[in-house]
Amino acid sequence: MDKFSNLIATRRSMRKFTTEKLTEEQKRTILRAALISPTAKNNRGWEFIAVDDPATLEALSKSREMGSGFLAEAVFAVVVLGDPSKTDCWVEDCSIAAIDMQLQAEDLGLGSCWCHQRGRFGADGKSTKQYLTELLGVPEQYEPLCIVGFGYKNMDRKPYEDDKIEWTKVHQGKF
Ligand SMILES: Cc1cc2nc3c(=O)[nH]c(=O)nc-3n(C[C@H](O)[C@H](O)[C@H](O)COP(=O)(O)O)c2cc1C
Repeated sequence: MDKFSNLIATRRSMRKFTTEKLTEEQKRTILRAALISPTAKNNRGWEFIAVDDPATLEALSKSREMGSGFLAEAVFAVVVLGDPSKTDCWVEDCSIAAIDMQLQAEDLGLGSCWCHQRGRFGADGKSTKQYLTELLGVPEQYEPLCIVGFGYKNMDRKPYEDDKIEWTKVHQGKF
């Protein structure tokens, strides 16, 4: 298997991390992956908030009623925001930036997981958009897509295996 295929197969969602911090260079490499990801018409209708303060990571872990708890253990997170006034493809652009960061992290030997934010709510019924505005000062025009949490892996996750791949999802020539 070549290096790239291996990277794709070994990236699994990691929700348990060690306490080891990332270096500034590792964080920058992850953010660079987002900033060079492809966007519709090269509009770059995204913004990223890099977070490594433990108290803020803890607060991000409470952004949703469920599904965000793992962020409390992450040592680094990137909040991915789209600007719908700039592009109608903000969901796509932000999604690609997020997965590129995840693959970059994998290439650095780090784990990551996507925490969804768009259209989601916290335990108190507050929208994630409102929550992030209050916590991080996100201006009104931006919509949160997700938060990607990163850290050193602290959980065994097996790579995807070829014999478990759902080839029935692929339709040759026509559906
Ligand atoms: C759009 C999207 C939203 C997701 N939201 C969450 C989430 O809120 N919390 C979480 O722990 N994982 C989340 N995940 C991770 C998925 O649960 C995970 O990718 C899926 O179970 C497949 O596992 P794998 O990433 O190990 O291949 C999300 C993934 C995607 C692509």
